[in-house]
Amino acid sequence: MENETLELKKALESSRLVVVKGLRRTGKTSLMRVVYGELKANKIFVDVRGIYPFTPRTVSEIFTNLFRKFARISKKITLSIDSIALGGIKVSEPKHIDLLETTEWINGKKIYLFLDEAQNLSRVGFDKFLVYLLDNTDIKLILCGSEIGIISDMIENPKSPLFGRGAEIINIKRFPSSLSLKFLEEGFDQIKVTRDASQLKETIEHFDGMVGWLVLYGDYSKRNDHKISIKKVMKDASSITTEEIKKFLETRGIGKNRYLHILREFSKGNKRWSEIKYSLEKKLGKKIGDRHIKDYLDALIDYGFIEKSEGIYSLTDPMTKVGVDKIKG
Ligand SMILES: Nc1ncnc2c1ncn2[C@@H]1O[C@H](COP(=O)(O)OP(=O)(O)O)[C@@H](O)[C@H]1O
Ligand SMILES: [Mg+2]
Repeated sequence: MENETLELKKALESSRLVVVKGLRRTGKTSLMRVVYGELKANKIFVDVRGIYPFTPRTVSEIFTNLFRKFARISKKITLSIDSIALGGIKVSEPKHIDLLETTEWINGKKIYLFLDEAQNLSRVGFDKFLVYLLDNTDIKLILCGSEIGIISDMIENPKSPLFGRGAEIINIKRFPSSLSLKFLEEGFDQIKVTRDASQLKETIEHFDGMVGWLVLYGDYSKRNDHKISIKKVMKDASSITTEEIKKFLETRGIGKNRYLHILREFSKGNKRWSEIKYSLEKKLGKKIGDRHIKDYLDALIDYGFIEKSEGIYSLTDPMTKVGVDKIKG
């Protein structure tokens, strides 16, 4: 985390557009929060997932209000405001407000705008507005995303408005097993809990280097033995990942069952492209075009569920399996 904190701070000094990307539960939000907390500047932090319903109008209205509020506050006190939470704000009566007009108020002020889980903003055309901010204000943008393919596309696709804007990209990775081990050992030292080497090994086999699960295991270990702690994390993880998978499947239209089938295949083990094709064709009783298989696998990669290495596809998070197992149908 220290390295990454420094990396993010350095990126903020040299670039006006920084993108933090990585799988779910690798510590991106924590990293952004730490850096945000230490910044002595005008700053705003928005969890984009908190915007509901997610439509061009509500997004526009929320940011308009946010900038208005910000402008008002920063006029009175030139100090930074700490945070404007947006969790679960619901806009019931959308009014037409001109977002561009509002941004005049923030002209000339250096503001750091942190957008957590920003990937969906392009869906409502908001990336065009972000470009406008870069061109017309002194704002610095920090975008973060777990759906790595989608957030990358926002920056790397030549058709995207944010393409070619000199984005600095910070890749947050899972811990390698040596670091997971060190992380657990140090954590247990601090909370004065003993775990032997085989228990630590088993924990890492279960949860890999996903810091989110490791922290949860550490937390349960304060009051439970090793086996029970593992069980409890798995129970929580299954609820969390089930919801994430269901949300993804809902975006897949009629392809939903095919994706679910593919995820079930990956839950049994790593697979080659040809194995997925064979199994899906067998399940459906008909031929499926290569193009479709590629699209399915690409989407699963984009949303961070699977990854590809040397021709082999595998789940990125071992807990996706327990989530998939809970889904019926
Ligand atoms: N370096 C770290 N040290 C301790 N706990 C961490 C660290 N990074 C993340 N966590 C914890 O792991 C969990 C997941 O982290 P989070 O930042 O929410 O991940 P992401 O935003 O990538 O999904 C959180 O509960 C957080 O408190
Ligand atoms: Mg996060």
